[in-house]
Amino acid sequence: MCGIIGYVGYRNTIPVLIQGLEQLEYRGYDSAGIACLSHKEDNLFIVKEKGKLSALKEKIGDFDVDAHIGIGHTRWATHGEPSRANAHPHTDATGRIALVHNGIVENYAVLKMAMQKKRIRFESQTDTEVAAKLIGTYYHKKTSLFDAVKQAIDELHGFFSFVLFSKDDPDTLVAYKRSNPLVVGLGQGENFLASDVTALLPYTRQVIYLEDDDLVTLTSKSVSIYSLKTRSWVKRRPTMVHWNVSQAQKQGYPHFMLKEMYEQPEVLRNILSKRLTKKGDIYFDTVNKKFHNQLKRVKQVHMVSCGTAYHAGLVGAIAIEKFAHISCRTQVSSEFRYGNPILGKDDLVVLITQSGETADTLAALREAKAKGAKTLAVVNVVGSTIAREADAVIYTHAGPEIGVASTKAYTAQLATLLLLVFSMAKMRNKISKEDFHLMVKAFKRIPEYCARILREGKSFERCARKHSSRRNFLYLGRGCNYPTALEGALKLKEISYAHAHGYAAGEMKHGPIALIDHEQPVICIAPESSTYDKMISNIQEIRARDGIVIAIGSEGNKDLEKMSDSFFSIPKAPEILSPMLTVIPLQFFAYRMAVLNGRDVDQPRNLAKSVTVE
Ligand code: AGP
Ligand code: GLU
Repeated sequence: MCGIIGYVGYRNTIPVLIQGLEQLEYRGYDSAGIACLSHKEDNLFIVKEKGKLSALKEKIGDFDVDAHIGIGHTRWATHGEPSRANAHPHTDATGRIALVHNGIVENYAVLKMAMQKKRIRFESQTDTEVAAKLIGTYYHKKTSLFDAVKQAIDELHGFFSFVLFSKDDPDTLVAYKRSNPLVVGLGQGENFLASDVTALLPYTRQVIYLEDDDLVTLTSKSVSIYSLKTRSWVKRRPTMVHWNVSQAQKQGYPHFMLKEMYEQPEVLRNILSKRLTKKGDIYFDTVNKKFHNQLKRVKQVHMVSCGTAYHAGLVGAIAIEKFAHISCRTQVSSEFRYGNPILGKDDLVVLITQSGETADTLAALREAKAKGAKTLAVVNVVGSTIAREADAVIYTHAGPEIGVASTKAYTAQLATLLLLVFSMAKMRNKISKEDFHLMVKAFKRIPEYCARILREGKSFERCARKHSSRRNFLYLGRGCNYPTALEGALKLKEISYAHAHGYAAGEMKHGPIALIDHEQPVICIAPESSTYDKMISNIQEIRARDGIVIAIGSEGNKDLEKMSDSFFSIPKAPEILSPMLTVIPLQFFAYRMAVLNGRDVDQPRNLAKSVTVE
């Protein structure tokens, strides 16, 4: 689930591996390691350490190894505790092969037992070592590493990607991909492999996204891809990545999350400039005519996604029913995939995902396709698996998001989904010309409104200081800001570790009201809306029980300000566009709470940036 980097070429390998791992740090990990082959001594040099990369770097110290091939890994433990022994790379029984792995080998226990019977000894508790040792059993004098992997792979069940090399062949990396992402980076006299393009940005922007069942040999001068699916050598077209290194650096901000929050106005501006034509129409460059026509005919929409992306889907569903008049269900991917969804050719399944690699969302996509539904991916990472496999893709163009807690990718998902809804409403004649143009006009103001809210940073800081020691928060919202309540609560939980619960405000009386006393902060999202009066009634109920009200309301709302212990204002905007604004104070609040509590904001404990295992 974590980071892989592989290098073969003219440079000194260790600094390349370390820099690659640094670029991948954001994904969250618990240990790290590298292996490289010293040219002179023919030595396999392996260093691993538990904890952060700094610990690994300290251990590597000034080792002067002249190596030109190597692999590196940041591990997010699934099998065996985070420890030096369990960290990758792992080796085969002879110590000639070094291997790193992302994902899970599901049948590792059976394989391990069988090998132990043959007196093969294991040094770790990982499933990874089982794969390394198994490949080793196929690796003989007359078999290349490529052939050994090809034979062993049939015995391995699960979802994974591997990168490995052998002492016997100092210019060849071998890699295999099944479900977990792997990208080849193309250089001049050098080549790279990585689980994520951000690791390649300092060196190259020419990449090949590998497909499932691709088995690759990579030398400093060549890339050969064999598809185990078609049992043939294949050519995969290189793609140019448009992100640059500085986008993946902090640029003076203390945390990526803060930097990414401040990027939101620019991201929204960029989306609008890409999606709006001169005439004020909405345009999706990647949706072809055939799919466009299918969008006109769909009878039922399903928004399917996880975590923050699920919250974006909830807003999208409200909008699609209201404006395009199409019935819409929203489900988290893990429930959708196992829930036997009733789908057919009239259904449109919209998969929303920042990374485009989330295992449950990918499985949901495959399930939807197998059942004959139309599938549309709303994705940030260009060329990712979900983007490639869906019938059509719309990119959210948020740029690389490094902080584990999603911020700009969320507002970009909201903007993209809302634009999709308005365009569907228009193509199905459900919105008048005037209303459509008014909505587009209002949309164009959102980036500036967003910037205005961000300028209020100091007041969020004050509010977070007041509440930084509290451990329990309730978030309430209605309509399209009910998802904002869920998202605000998720942000706080993820990075500050305080418990937070998002609720539909109308549900308060059905349970959570029991929590309210003078120690309970309740964050109430109450901008101008069709349910504003109902929100005010909820706020009065909280005040009547001495609860602490932190309100988010529309600019100039003095009444609400008076009713609240803390008040944050957002510029007035049409209700359906307001989630792109109301979420910003909540991102800020979570961020400040995390900083004040000394949390690791960009890499919160136990979390990974993309969840490529179930
Ligand atoms: C967001 O802050 C979370 N880290 C998480 O919920 C995330 O949104 C979820 O894992 C989905 O990821 P995806 O968008 O890459 O599919
Ligand atoms: N399952 C492997 C392990 O626990 C790989 C985990 C990862 O993807 O980082 O070591």
